[in-house]
Amino acid sequence: MLRMGRQVGGSTLANFLKRRALLPLGRGVVTSASKGIHSFTFNSPGLQWVNYEGTKKRSTDAGTTCREVVISGAHASRPIVSVARDHSTGMLKVRWEGGKEEVYPYVWLKDNCRCPSCYHKVSHSRLTFIEETDLKAEPISVQVVEGGQQVEVVWQDDHHSLYGTEWLHYRGFSEETRQARGSRYRLERKFWGTESLDNFPEASFEEIITDDVALLEWLRLLEVYGFVKLKDAPAETGQVRRLAERIAFIRKTHYGDDFTVQAKPDPSNVAYLNGPLQLHADLPYYEYKPGVQFIHCIKQYEGVGGDSQITDAVHVARQLQKACPEHYRLLTDTLVDWFDIGKDETGEFYKLLRLPVICTDKNGEISRINMSQPVICTDRNGEISRINMSQPQRDSHFSVPPGEVADWYAALVAYYRLLSDPKYCLQFKMTPGTIMTFDNLRIVHGRTGYFSGPGERHVQGCYVDWDEVRSRRRVLETKIDPYRSLYNH
Ligand code: OGA
Ligand code: ZN
Repeated sequence: MLRMGRQVGGSTLANFLKRRALLPLGRGVVTSASKGIHSFTFNSPGLQWVNYEGTKKRSTDAGTTCREVVISGAHASRPIVSVARDHSTGMLKVRWEGGKEEVYPYVWLKDNCRCPSCYHKVSHSRLTFIEETDLKAEPISVQVVEGGQQVEVVWQDDHHSLYGTEWLHYRGFSEETRQARGSRYRLERKFWGTESLDNFPEASFEEIITDDVALLEWLRLLEVYGFVKLKDAPAETGQVRRLAERIAFIRKTHYGDDFTVQAKPDPSNVAYLNGPLQLHADLPYYEYKPGVQFIHCIKQYEGVGGDSQITDAVHVARQLQKACPEHYRLLTDTLVDWFDIGKDETGEFYKLLRLPVICTDKNGEISRINMSQPVICTDRNGEISRINMSQPQRDSHFSVPPGEVADWYAALVAYYRLLSDPKYCLQFKMTPGTIMTFDNLRIVHGRTGYFSGPGERHVQGCYVDWDEVRSRRRVLETKIDPYRSLYNH
């Protein structure tokens, strides 16, 4: 049975839904539920909708303030009705009440035995040795036990394994189950231009600081849209650190834990001058580039200028690919030297990294060895994984054959023109208390020039890694949404 859980603040979920917009927690459909809720569909942020008693359909836009909605135990109470071995394929066939079926390779089942000698429950870790993996594992008997809540397998070496019904359900190999698990891993990006982004993804700083549901919603929007504008932060230093620490911790760079952008003489970075900052992504010279950036406006220049600009550079790269494949090819193939030389609070630095402007995952090269699965990570999807764009931080050393240089420049200029086209580039002026939060791998940002001396505009920024952001999202999903927690170990 599908069921929908949790009373919120003492009220029923139905009343709760009437009071609040919905939190885009994930995907799933509840076709029957308690307290008069007839149907409910989750979808990704920006496209969610709900039908509930007395109301036809309600849609909410990206950035709507949403609250706790919980979907629980979609198949929690469904028992397994039969299991059968298929030695010809080396798989166990499992059938649930209601007709759902999944198959599980024997070798995988044995590798994932949950008994205390194979698996350490507290650390969620395998205790077995890789070279002892039983490649020829075959059950000599299988049976459904505990009223359909467990499957017992006895192997040829007389090892006994027990697998829980839910545990198996959420680890199915069917396309559908694998897809459901996909959103746990990464949320699908929604690309935008200024026309397609009706509403700014926005959230309240204060709510994020005090409320885990608001925190989760912000992190989800950030992953999907790559950009969320926060309002209502105190107009004083230290707020970007508070925000970073709501997630995990600051990612330090050679500019320190955080950085202050104020016009000053002889600065270590051109951002600390008062001229315009062309669209760029910070830190292109870092191999492990900080993934998420916060920019907090503490004091804004009151004259004309100091406006912020942002563009979804991955979206624009995809447009360029369609409109001019040769430019796209040059920007994805040509290696550029990105550098930063200087001295700041952590001492002297000389950073140098060679990467194209548009990085795709298409080379199929072995990029790293990782002994906790997958063993060998290859770049296989062909998706754009990172944009490097920074006029000041592009080196004058350019290690390409001279005949390729002019065409590459033409491609760079064409791409930049598109990035700054008002069709794609959002421009707005931050007021004190605004924090821009964005994906530094996907979004390029800039600032129009302002013509004042030191102290009239004051901005503070810092970075956090995507690993920490996604980790926090999953932790919160597990805590707030028991349905999704079933994907857990
Ligand atoms: C930067 C930057 C934006 C601003 O320092 O890299 O993009 O508004 N600053 O000053
Ligand atoms: Zn910047």
